[in-house]
Amino acid sequence: MPTQILPPTPEHLALAAEALRQGQLVAMPTETVYGLAGHGFNEQAVATIFAVKERPRFDPLILHLPAGVCLEALDGELVDLSAFTAAARARLGSLVDTFWPGPLTLVLPKGPRVLDLVTSGLPTVALRMPAHPVAQALLQAVQVPLAAPSANRFGRLSPTSAQAVYAELAGRIPYILDGGECSVGLESTVLKLSPDGTPTLLRPGGIPREVLEAHLGLPLQTAPDSNLRPEAPGGLSSHYAPTKPLWLLPVAFDQLRPEEWQRLRQETAEHAHLGVLSFSADAQALAESFAHHWPGVALTFECLGPDPTAAARALFASLRRLDEGAATLLLAEPPPVLTGLGYAIMDRLRRASKPWKTPLLSPS
Ligand code: TXA
Ligand code: MG
Repeated sequence: MPTQILPPTPEHLALAAEALRQGQLVAMPTETVYGLAGHGFNEQAVATIFAVKERPRFDPLILHLPAGVCLEALDGELVDLSAFTAAARARLGSLVDTFWPGPLTLVLPKGPRVLDLVTSGLPTVALRMPAHPVAQALLQAVQVPLAAPSANRFGRLSPTSAQAVYAELAGRIPYILDGGECSVGLESTVLKLSPDGTPTLLRPGGIPREVLEAHLGLPLQTAPDSNLRPEAPGGLSSHYAPTKPLWLLPVAFDQLRPEEWQRLRQETAEHAHLGVLSFSADAQALAESFAHHWPGVALTFECLGPDPTAAARALFASLRRLDEGAATLLLAEPPPVLTGLGYAIMDRLRRASKPWKTPLLSPS
């Protein structure tokens, strides 16, 4: 099937909304990453999402909601808050009031209208109210929840532009609405709220954990990382991955000692062209450092810079360019700060990387 990239004019939004009503899929921009949207109450549409993405059916989908709907009004329909304590309800209300619309997904006990296919049979449902005006315009037009995973093939890098969606899904879907580059660049934070009010972080993302903890005035529980039947399969330890091997260094490039540079060179000897992902503020100095320690190797640099917001926004596009370029091995350094968005960036790099065969740093 031909895939069209459409600017989000009123005519194209109407066309996309009609396609969704008919059970077809539409890729839509959100503030986090592009989503592959389908009618959330249409079993056939949801089944098509799994098929198009080649996504295993054990990995549940997020339902996206139009702005203005009130969670209380969805009780008994999309969610079932009957077991929620008054304190848990208050906590939920304040999260919604503060962070919706925005990059926070809430996992709550599911209500009777939610398809089992959407939740992979789990008793909970993931809900999110995206802030992007094009996603909202589409939701307002269809007035049903849209099931929308990231618009990539399973396990691959999430797309942050219409062109990246095209690279992933051309020929498989009719329309991609082009809303420009995503402003956040990382997927939403997935937070589970239990009936007793316990908040558990299932996936770090666009809203930093510390922001949620400060808002709630308590620490978030952390879900165990598991490859078996993870509670948030975005938590699969290999995910968000480029097709080329990516090695994540334990320290920043500018902290490597001469003998560690040498070790790195030896271990990558069969690769004549390296892709380098860095958070350095000084791309020039980094290039000189490579030229000094690694004369002759061909290099492609993607320098995200130290600012976590800008780095998050550019991360997936940079990895995608490195993946499509001539390098045969990708090397990444950890972000300079591992709190805030740096924590979510590090999470994505860990999942994108293959385990290093031997530890780089000799014990000192
Ligand atoms: O930012 C985002 O969240 C993007 C945009 C398009 O909204 N969507 C996205 O969807 O990242 P997806 O399907 O790629 O990731 C959804 C994550 C998965 O890790 C999934 O396992 C988890 O949410 N999830 C969904 N329903 C869940 C549930 N009931 N319990 C636990 N985890 C759930
Ligand atoms: Mg995804």
